[in-house]
Amino acid sequence: MKGIYVMENVRLIKLSKEYKDELIEMIEEWKKDQIENNTNQSPWSIFKNDCSDFDYYLENLELKNPRDGLVPDSTFFLLDEKRNRLLGAVNIRHYLNESLLRTGGHIGDGIRPSERRKGYATEMIRLALLECKKLNIDKVLITCDKTNIGSKKSIINNGGIFESEVQTEEGNIIERYWIDNK
Ligand SMILES: CC(C)(COP(=O)(O)OP(=O)(O)OC[C@H]1O[C@@H](n2cnc3c(N)ncnc32)[C@H](O)[C@@H]1OP(=O)(O)O)[C@@H](O)C(=O)NCCC(=O)NCCS
Repeated sequence: MKGIYVMENVRLIKLSKEYKDELIEMIEEWKKDQIENNTNQSPWSIFKNDCSDFDYYLENLELKNPRDGLVPDSTFFLLDEKRNRLLGAVNIRHYLNESLLRTGGHIGDGIRPSERRKGYATEMIRLALLECKKLNIDKVLITCDKTNIGSKKSIINNGGIFESEVQTEEGNIIERYWIDNK
């Protein structure tokens, strides 16, 4: 495992009303980039609802109880306290169902386009692993598209051990990594 240093000024937060404007600004930047560069929507939990209806968005951000084959989850945002700026988000699935075990994993994450390649994904996963610990997830599965070098490296930086790769119905190759989180 590559030695990772702990970043000052960033921490994980749960979304609340005080971050409404900052959230909307981040999502706008992110969606524009997704359209222009045809990039993926990860973590899906922050894109599944329209944030312009903030109260609904906040209320439905996390799934408290299992429903329609979905497992309970938690979503955290990475906050730069110095700049009061949201940098990205991470979604933690509390346990694995069949589909998560195969391709989805426990953790889905993303860093907003303007803040990429500064080490934030690596730090956000490190912080997310501490949240996983609180949920008693002591073996964490994280997956990434084989072509997603940034994601792959941020997983390996956090001690991810490659187990296998699987092919999705769409033909993408997904790499599966486990992190010992005891
Ligand atoms: C993948 C993603 C989360 C990486 O975030 P990031 O903050 O840029 O990652 P980091 O800065 O921690 O970079 C980790 C490593 O990957 C490298 N890296 C990051 N993006 C890269 C890219 N596009 N190409 C090559 N290397 C890249 C960094 O240089 C760094 O290398 P190092 O460990 O050798 O220093 C970000 O690009 C993103 O949000 N993409 C869209 C959503 C997504 O794909 N999420 C992952 C879902 S599986």
